[in-house]
Amino acid sequence: MFFELTEEQKMIKQAARDFAQNECKPGVIDRDTTQEYPAEQVQRMAELGFLGMMVDPAYGGGGMDALSYVLAMEEISKVDNSCSVTMSVNNSLVCWGLQEYGTEEQKLKYLVPLAKGEKLGAFCLSEPEAGSDATHQRTTAIDMGDHYLLNGTKNWITNGGKASTYLVIAQTHAEKGHKGINVLIVEKGMEGFEIGRKEDKLGIRSSDTHTLLFTNVKVPKANRIGEDGFGFTFAMKTLSGGRIGIAAQALGIAAGAYELAVQYSKERQAFNTELINHQAIAFKLADMATEIEAARLLVYKAATLKDEGKNYDVASSMAKLYASEVAMKHTVEAVQIHGGYGFVKEYHVERLMRDAKITQIYEGTSEVQRIVISRSVTK
Ligand code: CAA
Repeated sequence: MFFELTEEQKMIKQAARDFAQNECKPGVIDRDTTQEYPAEQVQRMAELGFLGMMVDPAYGGGGMDALSYVLAMEEISKVDNSCSVTMSVNNSLVCWGLQEYGTEEQKLKYLVPLAKGEKLGAFCLSEPEAGSDATHQRTTAIDMGDHYLLNGTKNWITNGGKASTYLVIAQTHAEKGHKGINVLIVEKGMEGFEIGRKEDKLGIRSSDTHTLLFTNVKVPKANRIGEDGFGFTFAMKTLSGGRIGIAAQALGIAAGAYELAVQYSKERQAFNTELINHQAIAFKLADMATEIEAARLLVYKAATLKDEGKNYDVASSMAKLYASEVAMKHTVEAVQIHGGYGFVKEYHVERLMRDAKITQIYEGTSEVQRIVISRSVTK
């Protein structure tokens, strides 16, 4: 596998970089401090086609490949991870799942506005007592004939308050375990569906993360995706692709911190010369450059396998595991290189360090990725 970007992929990467540097960077510190949702930036992402990148143009999307998507994710994540997580969930977890497994009617009704960015989507799997152990869903969807009766609570849902379309995973046949789980399309405004508490987070602070509550919500049968009992497989398949997006986010965080550290090391003088002339700093930058490039290759490989129609389950877990560890490790180093300036908000690296942590947690913790990878090596 050799990654020579096409002219089109280079243009997408540059467009994402321009958007991030010119339209996300101003105000990103204030939004992080006040937890203000990046409404204007999300609107611009819709206009630029970043919210439905991989969706077939027949359904309002950009018809791009997964490699183009990770290029855009990396550039936006160098600057604003509240924007990039909003984009990632809409693209990978909601649009992709609907395009791949939705009926024609579901695609026309729900996918088209999501792919165009006229509406936002949310993916609702995590529960107060079912995070990594996703088979043990407490939310129930009882079969009532022509509809399901949905009851339960979902936690830490990205786009939870701003979305219009929610893919909700719930248990229908408890006796069948994970084979009795369904995924339902729930619309904002359905009776009994309540947007709960907004989370006050360590990082990605201006992204919209909520608890969601469902009390006797009547969801039409036509809103079930796939056959009865397909919900857990749907979640796993969707998350495999989602993990490529989060791996690209982690890569962008590490690469963004690295770019800032290089720039600072060239400008800042200490002991009569620029920091970069001190081997202690140059060696740190060398390690960052090497490990970030290794992460990039894993991310590109996972995206390329997806584009080639090959299995990418293990590759996406490897990419996410490694890129998120590189992001955590090297954002800490970037803060160290900046010294006291790294500890204050205006130099951006402390925010990237806080943002890095969630990439080791959401869409499967590092431990979950190790479960997926270790099963493939020991089977
Ligand atoms: N594709 C298709 N099927 C899959 C699959 C995949 N990638 N992975 C697993 N399955 C199937 C298995 O084949 C198995 O089916 P059978 O019983 O028919 O053989 C079934 O699913 C159960 O699989 P396991 O036995 O492997 O299940 P497990 O309970 O041992 O563990 C796990 C699986 C990998 C830990 C899984 O539960 C998991 O991924 N957990 C993490 C969940 C997660 O990522 N949550 C993130 C929430 S979403 C989020 O963060 C979004 C956001 O807002 C940013």
